[in-house]
Amino acid sequence: MQDEIDKYFLKKFQFQQLGNKSFSCTNLFGNPSWKVPELENLKIHLNCTKGLLSHMEAERWHEHTSYTNRAGAVFQKVKSEVCPELLTQFSWLAATLNPYYEGNSSKSMIGDHRFIHNTLCYWNFGHDDTGDIMEWCNVNAILQCKGRHVNLVTADGSIDCAENPGEQEKHLAKLHWCETISALLLLSPGGSYVLKMFTFFEHTAVSLLYILRLSFEDLHVFKPCTSKEGNSEVYIIALRYTQTHEIQKLLRIIQAQVYERKIDISSNALFSLSEIPEGFLRDIISCATLFKDHQEEAIMRNLTLYNVPLQGKELAATKKKVAKRYMQKYGLRSIPLTKQILGPENLRERSLWNLQPDHEKNLGSLPLTVTPELFTKLQFELKEIDFFLEKVKFLKWVNRAKEDWKDKIYHTYGKSYGIIRNTKFCHAYIFRVFEFLRELSLDLKSKSFFEALDETGQVFLINNFLDVSPIIGTGGNFETRCPVLSRFSVASVWIISLFFSQVEFDFENDTLIRFVGYHEEPLILNWMRHLDPKLLNFVKIPTLFQNSFYNLITRYNTKLLLEFSLSIINTMLLLC
Ligand SMILES: C[S@@+](CC[C@H](N)C(=O)[O-])C[C@H]1O[C@@H](n2cnc3c(N)ncnc32)[C@H](O)[C@@H]1O
Repeated sequence: MQDEIDKYFLKKFQFQQLGNKSFSCTNLFGNPSWKVPELENLKIHLNCTKGLLSHMEAERWHEHTSYTNRAGAVFQKVKSEVCPELLTQFSWLAATLNPYYEGNSSKSMIGDHRFIHNTLCYWNFGHDDTGDIMEWCNVNAILQCKGRHVNLVTADGSIDCAENPGEQEKHLAKLHWCETISALLLLSPGGSYVLKMFTFFEHTAVSLLYILRLSFEDLHVFKPCTSKEGNSEVYIIALRYTQTHEIQKLLRIIQAQVYERKIDISSNALFSLSEIPEGFLRDIISCATLFKDHQEEAIMRNLTLYNVPLQGKELAATKKKVAKRYMQKYGLRSIPLTKQILGPENLRERSLWNLQPDHEKNLGSLPLTVTPELFTKLQFELKEIDFFLEKVKFLKWVNRAKEDWKDKIYHTYGKSYGIIRNTKFCHAYIFRVFEFLRELSLDLKSKSFFEALDETGQVFLINNFLDVSPIIGTGGNFETRCPVLSRFSVASVWIISLFFSQVEFDFENDTLIRFVGYHEEPLILNWMRHLDPKLLNFVKIPTLFQNSFYNLITRYNTKLLLEFSLSIINTMLLLC
């Protein structure tokens, strides 16, 4: 039985040393794309097996595979026994798509931003604020602030490939190249690199692994037992970077081709097939076969278990043993509170406010085919969220930063985003539904409301306030009924609130934000008149996310977008 358990921990492959480490830099990316027949066959076979799942209802299948996952008890055990956190014993710097950048699609990012939010100073979102490492200006910005010795780079970038799972590898090839170029430019000699990949059937992955084989003393592929067995996720572990002069030269050429000339890496092969050593190719085929077999076995097991009554007790016992073995094997221990980055306090709440979180699971799965049933379903879900929303009747907030408001100012410039595709200032599912209705390009009177998503509209609130402030009069009020979804417009609410005794949102009356009790602030007013409209943001992120202010803004936006979406859905249902 012990052997049986151990086998879940042994999904790994080690590449042989290369006999000859020389390579040519003369025709890089100048080769037509090529295929290795053995790898192509593996791809076809694996896609056929995956195809057996195509009729499965995604959510039910996910639940089933979570249940059958033999490592399913590991997370719970780790959580209860060691309360894991990242060690702070090392200094670190991280990059990812910026969750606060309005132009990044929420589908390409992890919804939970608590870790980033609480460790903002360690994150580098690059020169254009997107965090996109497929743009050279951003990689360059990271290189500028790297420490003197970089011993480890880890990269687990990916984007949702659910729409075309059979081509996941092709879809992510460029990201894997960009991650690898960045890692090799960052790493110090002797350092290590861990990269998440999926399959390696295409020439792009073969060449990438060949570069890693050339640049590191050891190269391994590993699938942790906690990685779901039925998916293709594996981790490339490259140990001890040998930063030779030839590798640096190669890297500079690759960097110029990928980033500056933006070469299509799928149709232009880095090396010709004949330049890849035979022994290395044999290794790749063995490795790809090994992981493909593991994956197929898992898919077939899950399919079998889907239709037969499960031996629940037996499975539970296996899960328990795997979890126990995991703890023994990796010697996990709790991190003392003083060394934790966030501490349990900051991680307790899943989100700052929690409305029907179940709907979040549906994010991104809204179908493109529009049916009356879909509208009925949306109507039901929206009403349900509205019910929770209405439990709070009245919110007010006072901006207490009157004396030190300048300390909260931080100018963020970056790439123009055109239209808001992501906001942290609205319930994620409601925003997704709103986006979905916009994508249907319904030719309704509502068009102007959708324009609230345009970047150009973000200065409306501040301009409107500047126009009317001379006539508000001491003690007077000011109102807005526009969505405040971008950082710029939320920052506008924050700065405008400095002129008022308080800001209110009364759920029971009109859906609007009311600023109450005006008083003059000539200094701030003058500062606002000189504000650059090209800014993406001008108030520090922690200030915008300060609990009661964030709560008011987020609930207001959610209610506003929900009401608007419901009215469109009701109209659509009448028309159906
Ligand atoms: C699997 S998640 C990473 C999960 C993360 N390590 C964690 O534990 O929460 C993949 C991440 O890749 C990032 N990503 C995707 N494309 C990227 C790009 N072009 N540049 C930078 N990051 C990217 C996304 O921001 C996404 O959050």
